[in-house]
Amino acid sequence: MLFSQRIFCGRLTPQDVGRQVLLAGWVDAFRDHGGLLFIHLRDLSGILQIVFSPEVSPPEVCQQAAALRAEYCIAVRGEVKNRLPGAENPHIETGAIEVVVTELTVLAESEAPPFAISDKAMVAGAVSTGADHVAEELRLQYRYLDIRRPAMRDNLIARHRIFQCVREFLDARGFFEIETPVLTMSTPEGARDYLVPSRVHPQNFYALPQSPQLFKQLLMIGGIERYFQMARCFRDEDLRPNRQPEFTQLDLEASFIDEEFIYELIEELTVRMFAIGGITLPRPFPRMSHAEAIDTTGSDRPDLRFGLRFVEVTDLFSQTNYSIFRQILQRGGCIKGINLKGQSDQLSKNVLQNEYAKDIAPSFGAKGMTWMRAESGKLESNIVQFFSEAELEGLRQRFEVTDGDVLIMVADPSYAIVTSALGHLRLHLAHRLGLIPANTFHPVWITEFPLFEATEDGGMTSSHHPFTAPDRTDFDPKNSEELLALRSRSYDLVMNGEELGGGSIRINHRDVQRKIFAALGLTEEETREKFGFFLRAFDFGAPPHGGLALGMDRTVSMILQTSSIREVIAFPKNRSAACPLTGAPSRVAREQLAELGLLDLGGQTGLPGAAEKENPIDHLSWVSRIGLSAEERPVMEAILLQAQQLATRVAETAGEAEPIRTVVPAANRMRPGTEEQRSALAETGQLLKSAPAIKGNYFKVASILE
Ligand code: AMO
Repeated sequence: MLFSQRIFCGRLTPQDVGRQVLLAGWVDAFRDHGGLLFIHLRDLSGILQIVFSPEVSPPEVCQQAAALRAEYCIAVRGEVKNRLPGAENPHIETGAIEVVVTELTVLAESEAPPFAISDKAMVAGAVSTGADHVAEELRLQYRYLDIRRPAMRDNLIARHRIFQCVREFLDARGFFEIETPVLTMSTPEGARDYLVPSRVHPQNFYALPQSPQLFKQLLMIGGIERYFQMARCFRDEDLRPNRQPEFTQLDLEASFIDEEFIYELIEELTVRMFAIGGITLPRPFPRMSHAEAIDTTGSDRPDLRFGLRFVEVTDLFSQTNYSIFRQILQRGGCIKGINLKGQSDQLSKNVLQNEYAKDIAPSFGAKGMTWMRAESGKLESNIVQFFSEAELEGLRQRFEVTDGDVLIMVADPSYAIVTSALGHLRLHLAHRLGLIPANTFHPVWITEFPLFEATEDGGMTSSHHPFTAPDRTDFDPKNSEELLALRSRSYDLVMNGEELGGGSIRINHRDVQRKIFAALGLTEEETREKFGFFLRAFDFGAPPHGGLALGMDRTVSMILQTSSIREVIAFPKNRSAACPLTGAPSRVAREQLAELGLLDLGGQTGLPGAAEKENPIDHLSWVSRIGLSAEERPVMEAILLQAQQLATRVAETAGEAEPIRTVVPAANRMRPGTEEQRSALAETGQLLKSAPAIKGNYFKVASILE
């Protein structure tokens, strides 16, 4: 078989009719018409129908073909022919032609795949099977088969095209692609580090980079002036649909530039990348300060595809008799609302009061929610009688009310609660009411972020990272009020409510950088230990510089409009940061831990749980994380003894037979006197927030019988 003669299925057209061709690929689907066998042959380029006909194909080839099954890897030789009139298939690009086979080689057989890979119907008008309904865990376990699906393949190829576009674009503008280390020191981006133990330096660890932030700044100090990298970053953080523990950034940095350089560069690049997906983005991208974003949408990554901007109504109630509002305003609070124009048919009093005011708004942190519906020129609600006519008229004017409108208002002493709760309600209602138009893209730059945020323990943390330049440098690092008032020279690129990228102009003076570390509560010694090498570089003429990183998984996913970023990553981790294909992360042998000097964890002599292992009841209690009371121990001992006896009997009678694994349905058993209750936190997902591993609605615990 001369593979050099091979032609891609998808490249053949009616102009090739009469040609002898060699094709190779996978059996996508087949149809037997009593001796006449039709097969969809799939390769990287597309699908082509091949035909085994007793009139043309030799008998031994027809016989061989009868044994073909889905996903067999084959090569065929034959002649390109026009299909008979009426037999064309508009679902495939090569639907006007077929190849009548004279030679067949089975290159590799295949077991029946665990899910259908074919997504093109063989006959015009028929429904294709597709794999979109297949459980994601199974798709990830057999990812190599999932990638054979044209939809996945197209995603990966489009990702490649977008990456190529980035490389060509930046190369043409004098940027150099330079790799930075993966085994490195911790780089602060706000997540936990993935650590890699060093064998050569026992008890010492590398950290995988959360981003190449420090190295790209060192490249600027090294005089490279324009750097970029398709950088793999690692962050051990709570997973969300748009987050992966390892992901890819387009990381870039340039010297002797200011914000406008970055806006210009990234807008042009973003427009080009989106054009690959057939999406036209208008320029310039609008800009919005962080303060305005919060004030009008309750979010620092506002979704601007629909209106529903907040309307401020605090001043309308300065003299109100409605005691809830009065008390809130006396405590310095505020009231904001949104007008859901013409939505009263969709939002009954019952829905507004019993779903939104009672349940949904409180789940977003609001203590209450006020609603009103506009009917026959009047505002109606359960509390409208408490408001004066002047207040109601004020609302009608401020919200530009017409009949059919629904007003939603949140009042609270805390500005943060009002904006955050109303922001969540805004999104919830927009989704529920179908107010988000499909195929629209609204980029926006969010600027002037606060430099610092207060932490729960009374400290300070950087909103971005500690290398971001402040808007002024004459601040006192000990004055927290002053620190919280500082703005940063940072910018986030947000689209449709998603943060695609972020960056900033950096600090390039050692003393300012030291002041920032001091404001973050680092002592001189801690600063030296963590960032000494970095600060030292600033002693040698650091140029003014700045940059940005675009999350490429998120960007590609948005361009291709996929349901999650996992759809544009060849081998992603699942929702609990595990890889169902390889089984990573996995346990390692004690010897390997010993070699790495890791057995002596935290000064202990054994691994966690080792002591408990000695007593089976303690061990059971430890692995299942269930404390056993004194009365429960004898019961568990009896159960365990029975299980052990059963296991011994099975072992004796089964001889060399393979052990059988059985999964039995599990049910909740409550201790006597206690009642089964679903926690309110389960509804919001809060309950599982810190669980080490999550599967669906459950968190995983260690297996009980080992
Ligand atoms: P930042 O932390 O904002 O900035 O990250 C930049 C972009 O990376 C993407 N991103 C992620 N994508 C998938 N999974 C994740 N877990 C994840 N975390 C972040 C987002 C985000 O906007 N060093 C700075 C950049 C700079 O200042 O130049 C940084 O990493 O799209």
